[in-house]
Amino acid sequence: MYEGKVVVVAGGTGGVGEGIAKWFAQNGATVVIPTRNVKKVDRARDYIAPNGEKVVFIEGNISDEADAVRVRDEIIETFGKIDAMVSSLFGWWQGDKLVDLSLDHWDYLINSSLTTHFIVGKTFIPAIEPGGSYSMIVGLSSVRPVPHSGPISVANAAELMLRKVFSVEDEGRVRINDINLGPINTRTRHPMYQSPDFIDALEVGEIAGEIAFGKASDMSDHSLPLRLRENFNEWKASL
Ligand SMILES: NC(=O)c1ccc[n+]([C@@H]2O[C@H](COP(=O)([O-])OP(=O)(O)OC[C@H]3O[C@@H](n4cnc5c(N)ncnc54)[C@H](OP(=O)(O)O)[C@@H]3O)[C@@H](O)[C@H]2O)c1
Repeated sequence: MYEGKVVVVAGGTGGVGEGIAKWFAQNGATVVIPTRNVKKVDRARDYIAPNGEKVVFIEGNISDEADAVRVRDEIIETFGKIDAMVSSLFGWWQGDKLVDLSLDHWDYLINSSLTTHFIVGKTFIPAIEPGGSYSMIVGLSSVRPVPHSGPISVANAAELMLRKVFSVEDEGRVRINDINLGPINTRTRHPMYQSPDFIDALEVGEIAGEIAFGKASDMSDHSLPLRLRENFNEWKASL
């Protein structure tokens, strides 16, 4: 289905990202995954590409601007282009209430989430082929304040605006969207906290695939809230 396509999945070693990577790889794309931690590679590869599907890991820290540029240039040099990219960066955090949070901790969390999305977007969006797709994965906490996860709620809300500004400034050259998810059944979510009402990480990949190359490939400058399985089923039926 996606033969000849080059897809970058930032955060492709993570719980949601590995499902996204698997969807693209099992449908024929060449999938490139930057990672800061090569120790994660074997586990991710076994899941994403059990039958030798085309997945390549590049060691690098895309939260660091210079390293993000190096990783991007290496991808372009090796594969010649980027057709689509999905950014599924940073996970979850729970801890102090905002009034008790240290400035150091705030800075760390905002840098790891919002600022990483800024660096990755500014570095990679200009390198994506015209008409290509850039999808940001964002969570429900972007619109619903979550106590004891304040910096994540604040970062997620700002990521929605970051995405919108990337969209208007790019003037439609690349189709930039966000996929705004509820809880996902990932391999890392404890079975006790999984639910048949949630979609799984591979299905997040299916959403990203429809936006990049499929029935939703006219989608641009759009926020797609898919919180639960029923929303996912309705969206698929609407395509
Ligand atoms: N899990 C859910 O149920 C769920 C639900 C709704 C939305 N989301 C959203 O989905 C996205 C990914 O969540 P996840 O659960 O897959 O998280 P995760 O398992 O922690 O994976 C996040 C990935 O981000 C990469 N990353 C790159 N730079 C990072 C940095 N500076 N700090 C931390 N990670 C960095 C990491 O890759 P390396 O370590 O290999 O570099 C890591 O594999 C988040 O935006 C989250 O809000 C998740």
